[in-house]
Amino acid sequence: MAWPSFCLLLGLASTGESATGLASPRWRRIPTGSVRPGGWLKAQLELQASALTSHLPFFWDNIKETSWLGGNYDSTANIHQNTPYWLNGAVPLHLQVDNPVLAAVVEDYVFRILDRQAADGWLGPDTDRSDFYSRYPFLLAMVQYHEGLPDGEKRERILQAVLRFFAAVRERIDSGLLVTIYSSLRAPEFIFVIHYFVDFLTASGRDAQDFLDLAEKVYYGSFDWNSMWFNSSFFPRTPLPKFVSSESNGVSNAQAVKRGVVWGRQSGGTAAGFAESWFAWEQLQRFHGQVHGGFGTDEQLAGRMPSRGMELCAVVESMWSMALAAQLAPTDGQAAEALDFLESLAFNALPGSLSDDLWSHPYLQFVNSYLAVSNQPQHIWASDGPQAAMYGLSPNFECCTANFHQGYPKFTSSLFFEDPVEEQLISAVWAPSVVNASVGQARVELRTSYPFNTSLEYWIQNLKPFLLKVRLPKFLRSLANFEQSLHCWLEGRPVHLLKEPQFVKDGFLLFHISASESNRLAVRIEFPMAPRLERSADQGVSAFLGPLLLALDLAEQHRSVHYYGFASSDWNITASLPWRLGMPSDPKLTVTKMAKPGEKPMSNRDCPVRVEASLKELAEEDWPEEHGAPGRLNRSFHPKPPKAVRRSLLPYGCSSIRIAAFPALSLSEE
Ligand SMILES: *[C@@H]1O[C@H](CO)[C@@H](O)[C@H](O)[C@H]1NC(C)=O
Ligand SMILES: *[C@@H]1O[C@H](CO)[C@@H](O)[C@H](O)[C@H]1NC(C)=O
Ligand SMILES: *[C@@H]1O[C@H](CO)[C@@H](O)[C@H](O)[C@H]1NC(C)=O
Ligand SMILES: *[C@@H]1O[C@H](CO)[C@@H](O)[C@H](O)[C@H]1NC(C)=O
Ligand SMILES: *[C@@H]1O[C@H](CO)[C@@H](O)[C@H](O)[C@H]1NC(C)=O
Repeated sequence: MAWPSFCLLLGLASTGESATGLASPRWRRIPTGSVRPGGWLKAQLELQASALTSHLPFFWDNIKETSWLGGNYDSTANIHQNTPYWLNGAVPLHLQVDNPVLAAVVEDYVFRILDRQAADGWLGPDTDRSDFYSRYPFLLAMVQYHEGLPDGEKRERILQAVLRFFAAVRERIDSGLLVTIYSSLRAPEFIFVIHYFVDFLTASGRDAQDFLDLAEKVYYGSFDWNSMWFNSSFFPRTPLPKFVSSESNGVSNAQAVKRGVVWGRQSGGTAAGFAESWFAWEQLQRFHGQVHGGFGTDEQLAGRMPSRGMELCAVVESMWSMALAAQLAPTDGQAAEALDFLESLAFNALPGSLSDDLWSHPYLQFVNSYLAVSNQPQHIWASDGPQAAMYGLSPNFECCTANFHQGYPKFTSSLFFEDPVEEQLISAVWAPSVVNASVGQARVELRTSYPFNTSLEYWIQNLKPFLLKVRLPKFLRSLANFEQSLHCWLEGRPVHLLKEPQFVKDGFLLFHISASESNRLAVRIEFPMAPRLERSADQGVSAFLGPLLLALDLAEQHRSVHYYGFASSDWNITASLPWRLGMPSDPKLTVTKMAKPGEKPMSNRDCPVRVEASLKELAEEDWPEEHGAPGRLNRSFHPKPPKAVRRSLLPYGCSSIRIAAFPALSLSEE
């Protein structure tokens, strides 16, 4: 991220009516740690835990020598965000997998930071009295820790520390400090945190009005993203050149999407809040959307060209915004749409921007690229430096090294939600996992290797009856007559979705689960997953298998260019197969491999899925390079009869460089 050299000052508007309370979310979050990963997802989280998430405190100065514990690092431009970013992912990961090293560093950092809380309640370094922002990710970590810890001394310490911090912020705002720059642009995170603790206090019969007042001051004192940006004439409809303004920063945009749904709880306008969030997301998608479910942002919003990048930070922040949008949506149908994006980001954009061992990442990922090297002075992205495409420890900028950790853990926490009023457990996204739910007093295990398999089993043990509500992914909801293509069994009895319409509603399958103390296969679902093509006017054609975006395998070569310690290196990645291929109207897609995911589920060499396609070779003048990247198609070319080649496609997440948006050849060009 580039820090602006000017201050964006926003006046405190009058606060209007005083708050009266918070609307209950329709779906409730399941406390962090009560959903645990299984199968390939567990393998992926354990890899993450044993790689950078547990090792950064031992060799990366921003955490090892952090200003939060009195050190000299983690203080770029008076911002102290790296240790908080890391904890925002390390804390939930520690609650989801058993890794003793991770457990030890998380406890050590959190409680030493709390030990250093100032007398006025301030948490962390105090080099800029108005830098509330650096604390937001730390507070998000505290929400997740507080959710996950059993009642007891540690939990109470977190609560008291956070409430004292709220009082310190309130005092600073009351004394005239304004909510500025990132504290303002990213304020919805802070409001979410305040609401979590207001809910907790209210549920235990304590008064929380002061904190609602604080949330209101922060809301009205911070940037009005809807009217000043997403819904304004300034919202960029084309890729931006170098640094334009702090509102056009992609990560801030990804975070800002949640503003409507978060504030909707306090304003009482849940439907209007969702409409605001969804409008923001649709603006990003319409003008900058990319086929992996994210949007183009190489620092600043970067448009839809598949060779323009997306920051890893923006991927994980989009995922967190989509999880909240789903949880706080007014209807199941709207929740399902937000979950479609969460799913696509989690299965495509996230692994597509992490190495298979989770030891390295690029700053920017690309839908189309054939090169990711340590030094690219001539590059197609606008604002970032020559290392932005490289896989490494902290290419281009340090923020993504610190911030990526939240991606998988928060995704895991979002696999299930519950509706305590309607006694429903919502299976929001399919991935192998096990949940302890309060509805039904149920333990539910989802056994599957989806998205690498075509069946699901819910193994359930429950003291009370409940409704299991299973979201159908978009690729199934979009099938005409999906009721005929799905096969379901409830307690061993086949369910005929066509004859028993009560089992389907608004894109969800509904199963009434009777109480039973025996752990049994209560629900089984089988579904089809055939490769398909999706076309768009400006991005050509992409192939998918279920939720998986498919990418041309370039037989990538990795060469270490710098070694840091442990298993951490920077890498040059180059292609050893040609990338200039067009997609004919019938590429004869064939699934040639669908295997159980291995120790590294997103491995390039041992990817669980492989699809073969008949593609057409293009010449250099048909598809020229542009600054070291696949450029714009040459529409005045007259193709010689192109040669057909059979090539492999892999899930996008199994590749580091790839072509995933192909030129669509028309019949005459084929
Ligand atoms: C569920 O609860 C049981 C019993 O308290 C515990 O052993 C288990 O670890 C819990 N599982 C999850 C996923 O929270
Ligand atoms: C965006 O602005 C238009 C025009 O003022 C308005 O009609 C629309 O409701 C706004 N949308 C949102 C989500 O605020
Ligand atoms: C990595 O790529 C850069 C840019 O092409 C090049 O200068 C450098 O020599 C490469 N290093 C190795 C070890 O291949
Ligand atoms: C898919 O799941 C089924 C049943 O759970 C299993 O028999 C099959 O081996 C799995 N296939 C793969 C590729 O994992
Ligand atoms: C585009 O194609 C035309 C016709 O083949 C060719 O003359 C021209 O050089 C090409 N342009 C580029 C930029 O390659």
